[in-house]
Amino acid sequence: MKNTVTSRRDFLKTACVAAFAAGASHPLVSWAVDQAAVSIPGKDGMIVRSYRFLDLEMPVEFMTDWITPVNHFYVRNHMFPPARLDASTWKLTITGEVAKPLTLALADLEKIPVHSVANTLECAGNGRSLQNPAVPGIQWGRGAVGNAKFSGPSLKTLLEKAGVKDSGKHVQFRGLDQVPGKVPPFIRSIPIEKALDGDTLIATHMNGAPLTTHHGFPARAVTPGWVGAASCKWLSEITVLDAPAEGNFMSPGYRFPDKPGKPGEPVKPEDTHSLTALPVKSIIAAPSDGAKLKPGVQVIRGVAWAGEADIAKVEISTDGGASWNAAQLGKDQAKYAWRLWSYNWKPANSGDCVILSRATDSQGRVQPAAAVWNPSGYLYNAYDQVKVHVQT
Ligand code: MTE
Repeated sequence: MKNTVTSRRDFLKTACVAAFAAGASHPLVSWAVDQAAVSIPGKDGMIVRSYRFLDLEMPVEFMTDWITPVNHFYVRNHMFPPARLDASTWKLTITGEVAKPLTLALADLEKIPVHSVANTLECAGNGRSLQNPAVPGIQWGRGAVGNAKFSGPSLKTLLEKAGVKDSGKHVQFRGLDQVPGKVPPFIRSIPIEKALDGDTLIATHMNGAPLTTHHGFPARAVTPGWVGAASCKWLSEITVLDAPAEGNFMSPGYRFPDKPGKPGEPVKPEDTHSLTALPVKSIIAAPSDGAKLKPGVQVIRGVAWAGEADIAKVEISTDGGASWNAAQLGKDQAKYAWRLWSYNWKPANSGDCVILSRATDSQGRVQPAAAVWNPSGYLYNAYDQVKVHVQT
């Protein structure tokens, strides 16, 4: 298996040429949801949120499949992907608080039993643009999320081969990102308990095919049910530590207030904790926001997920939240994967209407009317809503 990517310059040239062809005035601008899609190799119809470090959002209208096709799966890069990756020379090291440090080639990984996990991967910043008051950062709409089947050895198997010492409390990942200038490297860790959960993977495949470069070829961590930042791409180093990793992406990055504060007010670093599992959330994929609906029965459909919990129900309101009706849940289900849902609605009156969706999970968590405001705009999970015009 060999995959040599084009250089970053070539890649950006392709993306930028396509952007200019599509009418963009500057390739570094963030694009709004309804602007023309641009041509990104390996991706199709995505919303470009950043070009410098590529960030691609999936239009919510694509959220109709249980398994998200790779060409529609969102991309979140904090820096440049590796310019060149050669599977035949790639190595993964396991060092730190272990009895037997290991260096593994891709061929070594391929000899280890494969485990597959269908996982809904969501960026912690998904929905940030909906926070009120507004917060800085990539202004994601609703589509920095997707559901894919990831396959590869369990991290547990690798850690058992290396022999974690009693002092090993956290497992740190580092990838082969190209880190420009003063940008701090993307280094994060997860607690040893989650690392030793058999569903936490060193994935080499996504939806049955080798990972693409966008998604971390040749191997990435997959920490199921947790914020996307816990799933390091282009993995090259695993280090077992006696304490959480340090650095920008552990603190101040990816932290959440211990208690909700007043919107707009700063939060002290000591009053925050590192993000782990995702909250409960649903998204309406159809009808689209702003749609003019033809007379007749309307099928409202979408997806719902809850990190490490299961979806218990999804409810729909077509009267601004005064009354709610249960949607039908799709049959496909897996522990960390989203559920499809649908609801047939026959509007009684013509006019403008707001459709709301609200999910409840197996832990009793209910998607709230308003998300917890926080300075980085993480974990936005307020009721989803679309405004439509109805003709009866
Ligand atoms: N891993 C590396 N090495 N570099 C990164 O910038 N971004 C993280 C994570 N892993 C990132 C990374 C974040 S913030 C998210 S949300 C997920 O990757 C996105 O994974 P995807 O691009 O495959 O959708």
